[in-house]
Amino acid sequence: MKILVLNGSPRTGGHTAAMVEAFTRGAQENGHQVDVVNVCQKKIAGCLACEYCHEKHSGHERQCVQQDDMQEVYPLLDEAQMIVLASPVYHHSFSGQLQCAINRIYALDKPKHLKKASLMLTSGSDHVYDGAIYEYQHSFLNYLHLEDMGIFTAHDEQNRSLEDALYQFRKSLRA
Ligand SMILES: Cc1cc2nc3c(=O)[nH]c(=O)nc-3n(C[C@H](O)[C@H](O)[C@H](O)COP(=O)(O)O)c2cc1C
Repeated sequence: MKILVLNGSPRTGGHTAAMVEAFTRGAQENGHQVDVVNVCQKKIAGCLACEYCHEKHSGHERQCVQQDDMQEVYPLLDEAQMIVLASPVYHHSFSGQLQCAINRIYALDKPKHLKKASLMLTSGSDHVYDGAIYEYQHSFLNYLHLEDMGIFTAHDEQNRSLEDALYQFRKSLRA
């Protein structure tokens, strides 16, 4: 299975990066192909709501007018069977950089082969995940009709343990 991970953390050696590494290792050991996009190292602007991507019979349906690094992500989105959203919790939601990338999926409406999704969140405190989980459930599971392969969260001291992350995602990928 082709898996696309969108890492929304600006910290290269941080907690999100550790979870993404643990996930990637586990997934690759199970024979999956994993592409990781570190969205904070890309130039990905927010959606302009210009509807260029939705102009019917224009020859540019499903294409975003903005020629920034999201153009590298669109083919990966269309190829992937599973998407993993990985983010630090910022003010009870995703990082702004990840939110920009998520909003830009609007151009594709529904990525061609996506069937499954997973969510990985790290935070300072516990009980701060509802905002991100709400968006994941409604925009990804319900709207895109994706199968939930698991939500993994780690706060405070849990961020130091990679084994939990490995266990969770190896388990979720067995299907
Ligand atoms: C701008 C900003 C906002 C944050 N907001 C929250 C928050 O609302 N709740 C929380 O528990 N932690 C919050 N944090 C802490 C991070 O979620 C936490 O340190 C996380 O583990 C960082 O992940 P990283 O190492 O991948 O950057 C915030 C951190 C930053 C920089």
